[in-house]
Formats: sequence, structure tokens, C-alpha cells
Amino acid sequence: MDMYRIKGGTSLSGEVKISGAKNAALPIIVASLLADGETVIKNVPDLKDIHTILKVVQCLGAEYDFDTEKRTLRLRVDSIKNAEVPYELVKTMRASIYVMGPLLARIGEADVSLPGGCAIGERPVDIHLSGFEALGATINLEHGYIKASIGNLQGAEFKMRTVSVGATANLMMAAVLAKGKTILENCAMEPDVVDLGGFLTAMGAKISGLGTERIEIEGVKKLQAVTYTVIPDRIEAGTYLIAGAATKGAVTITGANPDHIAACMAALTDMGFMIESGKDWVSVRPSRNFKGAMVRTLPYPGFPTDLQAPIMALATMVPGINVIIETIFESRFTHVAELRRMGADIIIEGNVVIVKGGNKLSSAPIMMSDLRAGAALVIAALIADGETEIRRIYHCDRGYEQLDRKLAALGADIKRIKGGGL
Ligand code: EPZ
Repeated sequence: MDMYRIKGGTSLSGEVKISGAKNAALPIIVASLLADGETVIKNVPDLKDIHTILKVVQCLGAEYDFDTEKRTLRLRVDSIKNAEVPYELVKTMRASIYVMGPLLARIGEADVSLPGGCAIGERPVDIHLSGFEALGATINLEHGYIKASIGNLQGAEFKMRTVSVGATANLMMAAVLAKGKTILENCAMEPDVVDLGGFLTAMGAKISGLGTERIEIEGVKKLQAVTYTVIPDRIEAGTYLIAGAATKGAVTITGANPDHIAACMAALTDMGFMIESGKDWVSVRPSRNFKGAMVRTLPYPGFPTDLQAPIMALATMVPGINVIIETIFESRFTHVAELRRMGADIIIEGNVVIVKGGNKLSSAPIMMSDLRAGAALVIAALIADGETEIRRIYHCDRGYEQLDRKLAALGADIKRIKGGGL
């Protein structure tokens, strides 16, 4: 397994282009199962999770050609040949559950391994399942598999008990081909969900209320395959801004949507960084007056849970008390122990983390435990004294395109050592 070797202490500077959004591309790829013919998806990031979801749609009958140079994916669906997604695929990526919506809509059945818990918490899928029941599905759990079947998908009203990105996306994908009108309430407003809605609308779906708490869908009989471009990745964008800030550098992200990262920009401003933005770029520079800040993760448009770990790494260098409250996932703190090993002063009380910032971190051998925790450790290594070796970097490969190359282009001293870590 590969590892990163990072020599800390360099200020990042320059421009970095943001890739397509992983969490928009994943459901969009799955949604292409809703129409026969050739779908072309542009700006698809070349990531491990994307290759995994491609295996999932392939096992259901889609053929694909992913031009990773051009980031263009061609997907061909002639018919859905299979309703089963095996444990082997679901265990590597929970987003495989997204196939339930399109499978129920197109062939009236889905047989998908139940995802287990993961490093960031228990992560149940009950809202997806009760939503499908509201649309008329019968659900049984057998031998670790969710077996869902439906005669006729019937539009319905359904209120999600808590805001869920995945359930909103999954239910939208089912409801677009249901008979009659579906009203979804307490919907996720994340740009990724809105982008999926944009793709479905381009295919001929009738959806209103995207980006609000209430989405209305008038079912149609058939959808057409289309060409579509995925939005930029707001979490990757926020990660580079935070990395730039942490190294007291001057970093500009390009090809981004500043509206999608407003909460991150506000948190950096609160900590005393200078933020400027234009139509599709944002830059960060240090100021003289750093101060501790409070960050609370919330559903969009609040501060994203996916940037909680990266901003905690930044908080370690911001003098004063920083308070970080995680309200989305109950145990998304696996990075804390590793940051402590590097000398960070961090206390956890339930879902509240207090970071006493200002002490210089020192290098230590550390290990990633999930994708965003991994990004936090890379940021910590960039600001630490000495050379840090980070193992299990396959977590970052899931969601950051060419992380080491992009950071090196900004001046970071980072090397990917092939086969260098267990
Ligand atoms: C999506 O996960 C993202 N994944 C996550 O990104 C992101 O952290 C999360 O949304 C929150 O923004 C993808 O888009 C592929 P949720 P998802 O359903 O859809 C609870 C990353 O690093 N819940 O919005 O699984 C759940 O446990 C990843 O890129 C239920 O209780 O998240 C959590 O507490 C990690 N029952 C909350 O809702 C359900 O049926 C929000 O989860 C569904 C969710």
C-alpha cells in the first residue's frame, strides 16, 4: 500500500483547479440507469469511488467507457439485466444503495446488500426504506440483503425524519417514474442533490423545489439519455482553501462555485483569514489577527460535516480556543487521536471538540481512517515540524483527485511512496 511522505513548513501558493464533484457524480451515474440509450457525463472526477460505482452499474447491465484524461464518461444502458448488488461492492462503498431508486423505478425490484456501519458512525438507511414503502414498495431484510419489490410505483407524500442527502437523492430517482405526484419534505438542499435534480430534469423529469426543503415531482412515463456536466466539488474546494490557510499561504481555487462554499469562506473569515472571490474562483490569504472561532456542522447551507476534520487541523494553528460541533455524524472524530499524536491540544466532550490552537504540530507516523480525516492529516503534516509519514492513503484516493500532485504544484513537499505503507 502507498503512503505519503510530507515535509512540513512550506506555505502553499498559486492556483489549483477544482475537479468535478464526487458526491454529485455518484448519484448521476446511477440515475443514468433510468433511461435506455447512451448518457454522456462530463467533468467526472477520476476517483476510486467513481470506479466502484461504475462496477455497480455494470453489474446491473450498463456498459461504459470512462475517458479519464478528458473526464468524460459514456454509459450505455440497453436493459437492466440484474436487480442484485452484492456485498462485495456495497461494503466498499455505501453509495451503492443509490441503485435502489432506479431499480425500483425501472424493474420493480431491488436486491441490495445492507451497508454496515463505517468509520464515521452507524449510518442507518431507514429513511431510504420508509420512503420507498411510502411509494408502495414492500421491503424485507433477509440474510444481510434489502429485498425490495413493487407492483406500481405510486406518487406519495413523504417527510424525512431528518435531513438526508442520500435518501433525498434515492427517493427522487424513484419518484421521477412513479405514477402521479410525489411530495418530499425535509429534503436535503446540498448542491449535489440539486445537480442530480438538474440531470433528471434534463432527462425529462418534472421536478420543482430543488434546493428547498420541499421537492415536488410529477412522475413521467419515460426518460431520455442526455449529455450533462457535473458541478465542481465544493468539499475539494474547501479543503484546498483550508490547506492554504493552514500553511499561511496565498491559494486561489479556480473552476469552483463560491456560492457552494459560502459557509467555509465565512468560517475562515471568522478565524481571521482574508477571503476574496469572483465568479468561479476564491482566494485565501493570512491576516495578522488570527482568532479562535466556533464551527458547527449542519446540513447545507450550513458548514459541511465533510470539512469538519480539515478545519480541525487548521484550528490547531489558530491561536486561542476553537470550538467545533459535529451535528451530522455521531462519531466522526477518528482524526483526533492522530492529531493529538502530533501534539495538538484537543478535548472531546460528546459531539463538541475544543481545540486550543497555536502550538506548532510535530511530525509523527500517522494513519488515515476515512476520506476527510485523511485530508485533515495531510493538512496537519503540511504545517508540522519535520517529515510526516501518512499510511492508508487509499482513503484519500476515494475522494481527492491527484491530491499529492495538486499540493506539489502549490509548493508542498509531498511524495507518494509506492508500496511504502501497510
Ligand atoms: C452524504 O452521505 C455524503 N455521501 C457524505 O459524504 C456526507 O458526509 C453526508 O452526505 C452529509 O453531508 C455521498 O454523497 C455519497 P446523509 P449520506 O444521509 O447520504 C442519518 C464523503 O466524505 N441518516 O445525509 O450517507 C445519518 O446517519 C461522504 O464524501 C439516518 O439516520 O448522508 C446521518 O447522521 C462521507 N437514516 C444523517 O442522517 C437514513 O436512512 C445525514 O446522513 C439516512 C441518514
